[in-house]
Amino acid sequence: MTARRWTIGELLNVSALYLKDKGVESPRLTAELLLALKLGLERVALYLRFDQPLQDEEVAGFRELIRRRLLAEPVAYIRGEKEFWSMAFKVGPGVLIPRPETELLVEQVLDVVRGSPESATEHIRILELGTGSGAVAVALAKSLSSAQVWATEISSEALGYAEANVGRHGVAERVHLLQGDLWEPVRPLGIRFDFVVSNPPYVASEVYDTLPSGVHDYEPRVALDGGERGMHFVTRIIEGAPEFLVPGGWLLIEMSPEQTETALDLVSRQKVYDSARRVEDYTHRYRVVMVRRM
Ligand SMILES: C[S@@+](CC[C@H](N)C(=O)[O-])C[C@H]1O[C@@H](n2cnc3c(N)ncnc32)[C@H](O)[C@@H]1O
Repeated sequence: MTARRWTIGELLNVSALYLKDKGVESPRLTAELLLALKLGLERVALYLRFDQPLQDEEVAGFRELIRRRLLAEPVAYIRGEKEFWSMAFKVGPGVLIPRPETELLVEQVLDVVRGSPESATEHIRILELGTGSGAVAVALAKSLSSAQVWATEISSEALGYAEANVGRHGVAERVHLLQGDLWEPVRPLGIRFDFVVSNPPYVASEVYDTLPSGVHDYEPRVALDGGERGMHFVTRIIEGAPEFLVPGGWLLIEMSPEQTETALDLVSRQKVYDSARRVEDYTHRYRVVMVRRM
């Protein structure tokens, strides 16, 4: 008797149900992404080949990927890639997977630029603190063709991914990657920036161990742990950024919704910022605090 041959469509249907049963988030999408990865196809191509029978080794390889996902390994690490701002970024152990809400930082910078007189937007200088995979820096450089971006990062492992992504998206000439603590690497350059943007580590140390295992066990702690109440970097950035901003330059920081109130208090105590506002993410929770240096 010959063994049963799965078609792409059948395997997707069965696997999506199985993943759902196991409580995996976005089960259908996960099954599609992993099968596309195994077969070396774009996800949409699966639908054009729904009735195509699969080889035993293809099914076995796919099962192995499903097994990894069931152990909580993030799909983005299994694929080695994550979409951000409609671009693919190389990711893997050692670098934070860019999150959709972080696109807000990019959106808000572009909004400010579009609302400024053209003469003020010709040679924009942007500093990103804690660039990780380089997603924000690359998205900004791609969106603002005459901007120069300096992006710092403490972790050499993360910086390796950022370098790969900057190269892959063809912006190496305008995205300057530097290793070190926050703005220390740019201090010797004596540059003042039109924008300082950051998605710093902002998970409170007190709750770090309660993070979902896909985050806690796989993503780097240095990218997530923001110290007491998660405010260590947010505080340092609000206090220190004025030195690096031109008058009228903007500071934008991503943080957790509960931190935004405290951040606004801190901003008003500095007496160097105006136009403070909070921006909501796609789930209608405050996610970004933005302020202008006077
Ligand atoms: C929340 S992640 C953000 C990564 C990326 N910008 C993004 O949005 O996907 C914070 C990043 O800051 C980096 N980092 C942590 N401490 C830092 C420091 N003192 N100076 C510079 N970067 C730091 C981490 O390694 C991590 O890549």
